[in-house]
Amino acid sequence: MEPEAVCALRDVSFTYPGAAAPAIQGLDLTIRRGEWVALVGANGSGKSTLAKILNALLIPTRGDCFSCGYRTDREEHHWAIRSRISMVFQNPDNQIVASVVEEDVAFGPENLGVSPGRIREIVRESLCQVGLEEKRRTPTYALSGGQKQRLAIAGALAMRPECLVLDEATAMLDPQGREDVLKILRELHSKGMTLVQITHRLEEILDATRVVVLRNGQIEWEGELPELFERVDRFPEWGLEIPPLVRLTGLLKKRKVLPASCLPSVKELLEHLCP
Ligand SMILES: Nc1ncnc2c1ncn2[C@@H]1O[C@H](COP(=O)(O)OP(=O)(O)O)[C@@H](O)[C@H]1O
Ligand SMILES: [Mg+2]
Repeated sequence: MEPEAVCALRDVSFTYPGAAAPAIQGLDLTIRRGEWVALVGANGSGKSTLAKILNALLIPTRGDCFSCGYRTDREEHHWAIRSRISMVFQNPDNQIVASVVEEDVAFGPENLGVSPGRIREIVRESLCQVGLEEKRRTPTYALSGGQKQRLAIAGALAMRPECLVLDEATAMLDPQGREDVLKILRELHSKGMTLVQITHRLEEILDATRVVVLRNGQIEWEGELPELFERVDRFPEWGLEIPPLVRLTGLLKKRKVLPASCLPSVKELLEHLCP
């Protein structure tokens, strides 16, 4: 495994018990420290399965997965792996375990046997990172959906992970909630956190350093964002929706109004069109 690799998959396949076809097939993928990898693809393409392989919730039925230097098929490494690669899922209600905000964040480090003084520090830091420090004494039921998901992220951060894996973490949120989560991701990434972001909304991946398109459990395409948006013609077969802004940017590039490098964000469009 390369020294900067957070996760390295070598010829990994995974078949669910009793399933006719593998959900992941012969996948080779390295995720390096500090990368922001967007993982996209149609429903059923294997994104969630891959996410769970990364932090040893699922063990490859063929091939090897190394996460944070540990082989994931050795059970004695699972705690070490899961504390270094933290997951955030779609539904925050399924991830909140305590009835008060600060207790929920403390739950992970308590289970790792961290001292009470250190736990208080970690809880304060983690809540600050997601902008919920004022809510530390609030009952979790009183939070909005977006606040609950930020709490779930704080809970993941309380494990002091190297890498966050977010599986459709914005899918249940309103636009403000989604923007709040993206802002947190940008902040975390700028401080060196490795991110694996699974989403249906391509407008949310504009900060990714690399994009991986999964199709039928295999890597169909991978590259950087500007190249991805040059392949819009293939989005339908990849099961990707073309957001309006992507369509508009593509048309303006074709007419040479915008340079090929322009990303489909309001900010970039404004910079090019009204400098
Ligand atoms: N628990 C499970 N048992 C059996 N098959 C599953 C299970 N979870 C997912 N699958 C199948 O594995 C494939 C990949 O699913 P998944 O990883 O959830 O894809 P995605 O997250 O991209 O929608 C699909 O064909 C799905 O039906
Ligand atoms: Mg999924």
